Amino acid sequence: MDWFEQYESEIRAYSRAYPAVFVKGQNAKQWDETGKEYIDFYAGAGVLNFGHNNPKLKAAMMDYLAEDGVLHSLDMMTAAKRDFIQGFVETILQPRKMDYKLQFMGPTGTNAVEAALKLARKVTGRQNVIAFAQGFHGMTLGALACTANGYFRQAAGVPLNHVSHCPFETNVGGGLAMLDTLRALYDNTSGGAEKPAAILVEPIQAEGGVNVASAEWLQGLDKLAKDLGALLIVDDIQAGCGRTGQYFSFDEAGIDPDIITLAKGLGGLGTPIAMNLVKPEHDQHWQPGEHTGTFRGQNLSFVAGREALRYFEDDQLMNAVHDKGEIMVGALEQMAQTYPDAGFSVRGKGMMQALDVGDGALAKAVARECFERGMLFGPCGVGGSVIKLIPPLTIPEDELVAGLEILSEALAACMKG
Ligand SMILES: Cc1ncc(COP(=O)(O)O)c(C=O)c1O
Repeated sequence: MDWFEQYESEIRAYSRAYPAVFVKGQNAKQWDETGKEYIDFYAGAGVLNFGHNNPKLKAAMMDYLAEDGVLHSLDMMTAAKRDFIQGFVETILQPRKMDYKLQFMGPTGTNAVEAALKLARKVTGRQNVIAFAQGFHGMTLGALACTANGYFRQAAGVPLNHVSHCPFETNVGGGLAMLDTLRALYDNTSGGAEKPAAILVEPIQAEGGVNVASAEWLQGLDKLAKDLGALLIVDDIQAGCGRTGQYFSFDEAGIDPDIITLAKGLGGLGTPIAMNLVKPEHDQHWQPGEHTGTFRGQNLSFVAGREALRYFEDDQLMNAVHDKGEIMVGALEQMAQTYPDAGFSVRGKGMMQALDVGDGALAKAVARECFERGMLFGPCGVGGSVIKLIPPLTIPEDELVAGLEILSEALAACMKG
């Protein structure tokens, strides 16, 4: 570990929380170099929806490598990209009657958000964007301006402007009445507020504490955006790709986003890729090559990502996500009930579930205790007070139960101590 401590930047974060050198991963399990086994309830912060080294995805990737398939191609046409586009359109978009262009950009989530913001500003000729308290959208300056967390924002070094943050639905004052307030403000020609280019929202705030917006609120937001001539950008980077038991986290919300940002789970096996779904009428505002990037669309990610889309050709995986999500809720409710005076609460959707313990130090202690006992998760939310569980969707039921038991025991140890 000295190599990391001595030579790797002080910016290290997860390696401090999980002080082990990992060498192997299979589905929901990970091993460190001492041979210790961990059940992974963090899954690469929502990347590994289909598990570590998913055999089908890995085989497709290995075949591609063995055949000397083109690995890097800028945004040139490749057969791997065509297969991915066709798979995505036929499996995800067409059954939902969704008409979107697929835009590939730099390979991580923040790149998708940057591209979405830039396009919204181009389309509308406006500058300001509405984002929400606790929202998390990435670390590059445009996305960081939309990210609410003060710790991340203070590292920017320049003003993070052209974004107005509003309360999220679950915040005090953030419900439907707030949307009426915003509407009245923008309608008032002496209100002093410039109409926004976009409203950027996570239907389920993941890093922000697993805060789930209602369909009614999202519909209100959609209508407000349309009435104001702003674009509705839905950031489904962490909650999308099947995490909630449906492909998009907003599948049943009855909204019609102008741009949908995806990344994390899209590449299937864990290699990077980001993609925006853009309404064709907005997409035509791009000039060729106007938003470029060396790693626009990774062929290995296309290959594994195409294979991952097969999980959505029938209901098997999504039904399993519903069932396993119920197991998670049951276990977390049980934990909350064990400490009635502590005021813990449970929330989430599908296999993104959380126990809000209302105390960052406690959540951190539980994470450390879980690590010692062979289970990994990452706290999130304001002050890190929310225990967020996002295991691979493919986790076997017995490992899910075993991981939840470890959490329960770790919590008990911390509550005692
Ligand atoms: C909702 C959301 N948007 C954007 C991002 C940024 O993605 P990346 O870290 O890949 O740049 C994240 C990362 O956690 C996220 O959860």
